[in-house]
Amino acid sequence: MHAYKKKTFKKKSMDKDMPFVNIEEPEVAYIQRSNKTFDESWDFKKANTKEFTHCFHSYPAMMIPQIARRLIKNFGNKSELLFDPYCGTGTSLVEAKIQGINSIGTDINPLARLIATAKTTLIDLQVLDLFLHDFTNYLYSISFNLEKQKLIVIPKVTNIDFWFSKTTQHKLALILDYIANIKDDSIRNFFKVAFSETVRETSFTKQGEFKLVKNKSNADKEDWDVFGIMISKLSRNKKGLIELKNHLTKDTLTSVHSFNTINGIPNNIIKPESVDIVVTSPPYGDSRTTVAYGQYSRLSNEWLGFDYANQIDKMLMGGEKRRTNHIFRSQILNDVISTIKNEDKERVKDVISFYEDYEKSICNVSSTLKKGAFACYVVGNRTVKGLNIPTDEITAELFEDNNFIHVETIIRNIPNKRMPLKNSPTNVSGIKSSTMKNEYIVICQKQ
Ligand SMILES: C[S@@+](CC[C@H](N)C(=O)[O-])C[C@H]1O[C@@H](n2cnc3c(N)ncnc32)[C@H](O)[C@@H]1O
Repeated sequence: MHAYKKKTFKKKSMDKDMPFVNIEEPEVAYIQRSNKTFDESWDFKKANTKEFTHCFHSYPAMMIPQIARRLIKNFGNKSELLFDPYCGTGTSLVEAKIQGINSIGTDINPLARLIATAKTTLIDLQVLDLFLHDFTNYLYSISFNLEKQKLIVIPKVTNIDFWFSKTTQHKLALILDYIANIKDDSIRNFFKVAFSETVRETSFTKQGEFKLVKNKSNADKEDWDVFGIMISKLSRNKKGLIELKNHLTKDTLTSVHSFNTINGIPNNIIKPESVDIVVTSPPYGDSRTTVAYGQYSRLSNEWLGFDYANQIDKMLMGGEKRRTNHIFRSQILNDVISTIKNEDKERVKDVISFYEDYEKSICNVSSTLKKGAFACYVVGNRTVKGLNIPTDEITAELFEDNNFIHVETIIRNIPNKRMPLKNSPTNVSGIKSSTMKNEYIVICQKQ
């Protein structure tokens, strides 16, 4: 165990209650382990993060492909199976494919699963071309087919008139009607991913925000080039797919699931001690007070007819608030909890809920790894009530409790992760704080 030292922050008064405070100095207060180092070569400042199918769809807090690539190279030598328990849009699954490794991912958010699936499905390009051609013809012919236009049904989307102009709703529904009639699952997914980005870009949502916030300056815009945007997404994604297919040297299997590692690992999907490497980036905290994956995805999820689109943030880690006296198997975490509890008895419940889920998940994920295999967790240390929570240290302690040794922690700057520069996580208008500047790559090995 490592002694937990509380850091004194240079804190601005309005940041008192924020998950992310203005961190005016590197978060070095918790360097207690000797094998924990800053390494700028992991920043990948000028790297192209949109190579291959990584260009498909943006998403909050995506992993930098180069990080997954290097982790697999360094710690996944001769691996046959990679597992990502919070796979999001599948960055590590794509990278596993590139390195000839089978992979399994899981995520609770249906939009994330759709994107991850599409990014790792090697569609026949000739078939794709036929559909792309047919789709262009459809868009052309539909503009003259007023009868068909009248029959089109706009799907149920909460507050649709608040988020989309009538013209945009109509055009999106025409595209959706085409997609619904595609019989081939892979092609349909490919189109759905482009459609989802089109939905986002033609809505009145502020594009730079992850939460659903209306961009008032766009509120009267009726005439988005909805079809043009859809076509440009499709052709960009096709280029990415061609690039990926040309790069691959080996056939691999990738599967994307919806199980929650908090509740265990389905034996029919992953056998105990069968995984060679885990490469993942878990959420920084519960979705309500950190990154709102559910809100970011809600419009797309609703247009695409996914169930529970409104409930996703509650279903993610820490989404269910509990009153609990749980004693954690990380001493640092117990200390953090009691410090926050003294400050705010309500707020501490968010923190407890998240880490209770995290602790269970790490225990279950640990059971999937072979002896000698590595777990690589890219984590962020969020701040609650002015206290920076050392999730990297907590992660290492929880793995140690599951019979792992901590190998090293690499601290990197976040120059290019898709994070808002300013963020208002409690929805208090006008109150913003900087997001975190460092990420911690925690590497542990199973004994
Ligand atoms: C930081 S993002 C992962 C991003 C991913 N590495 C990428 O590059 O796209 C964290 C993901 O964890 C997912 N998540 C949160 N709680 C989860 C849970 N209990 N089980 C599975 N996924 C969960 C969120 O939906 C989100 O997609």
